[in-house]
Amino acid sequence: MHVLVTGGAGFIGSHTVVSLLERGHRVTIADDFDNSSPKVLDRIEAITGIRPELAEVDLLDEAAFDAAFAAAKPDAVIHFAGLKAVGESAADPLRYYAHNLGSTFSLLRAMKRHDVSTLVFSSSATVYGDVQQPPYTEDGGRLDATNPYGMTKVMLERILRDIAGAESGWHIALLRYFNPIGAHESGLIGEDPSGIPNNLAPYILQVAVGRLPRLSVFGDDYPTADGTGERDYIHVVDLAEGHVAALEKLATTEGARAWNLGTGTPTSVLQMIAAFEEASGRPIPYSVGPRRAGDLPQSWADTGRAEAELGWKATRDIADMARDGWRWQEQNPRGFSD
Ligand code: UFG
Repeated sequence: MHVLVTGGAGFIGSHTVVSLLERGHRVTIADDFDNSSPKVLDRIEAITGIRPELAEVDLLDEAAFDAAFAAAKPDAVIHFAGLKAVGESAADPLRYYAHNLGSTFSLLRAMKRHDVSTLVFSSSATVYGDVQQPPYTEDGGRLDATNPYGMTKVMLERILRDIAGAESGWHIALLRYFNPIGAHESGLIGEDPSGIPNNLAPYILQVAVGRLPRLSVFGDDYPTADGTGERDYIHVVDLAEGHVAALEKLATTEGARAWNLGTGTPTSVLQMIAAFEEASGRPIPYSVGPRRAGDLPQSWADTGRAEAELGWKATRDIADMARDGWRWQEQNPRGFSD
């Protein structure tokens, strides 16, 4: 199958492109490198021996995107492109709503014009808000979010369901990611945040490599085993393989359907620090600070639906995630700028 991957040069996108190529699919990346590096294409080629095709285009430039889509003639789309920083979204909601919704509308109109009806959409566990107690099940309650970034995912899930409900023939996967970390085992691709990382694993890695002096642990008075926040971290290669499984499942699934992509196992901030100290052989200095506004105590997936329906299950554990994340950071201390 020929798959157009929007945001295919990004962290999750690049790992998914590798999994698609390894599985024998043809890939065109659509990316404007706004928050990613063109070097990713060389690295994907080094890993797989295949250079993905590239459409360097901004989805918000609808005419240019439509022309690129028409030229590529894909059979299916995996849509990663979008803004994703929670704090930034709270500071500038208009930018987030306009960008994430507008770019998806541009994509959907191109798909309709060119008769492409298979779409895998990057959603997030953030759509569970604080409605359910974990483990979160796909149909366990209404969707909600505590910030505009998360709300764009809630809205886009609804929009995609409405479209698939109104028109027959759509095949849409809504993939709700838990906390993707780690890197490809080659150390050639990984997460390369711009500026100070917002998320725990890239922050820890930059402390380990000496780019940042110490980690602040956001609260140790949560009702959890050690008092720090617990999350369902998933190896990005497991996540990538989940996309391939979902894409292949869509051949026999009509409408829009949600699947959680997580491991089902929570890990605390202190356990993460210990895992990365072990993997890197370096101390991770930290101090305990106040809670971060909007953080939940705990989040983890019910993985039953993905296992039963996609035939997919995460196989890599926290030690694998820390080892592969560290290999990427050690080999590329300044990410793709090295
Ligand atoms: N944390 C720290 N110090 C830090 C960063 C994080 O203690 O410097 C803690 C947080 O309080 C939380 C845990 O580490 O307990 C994980 O935090 P992350 O920022 O790595 O991840 P979140 O679960 O907060 O957010 C992630 C994604 C969002 C997504 C959300 C829900 O970043 O995009 O999961 O799926 F919306």
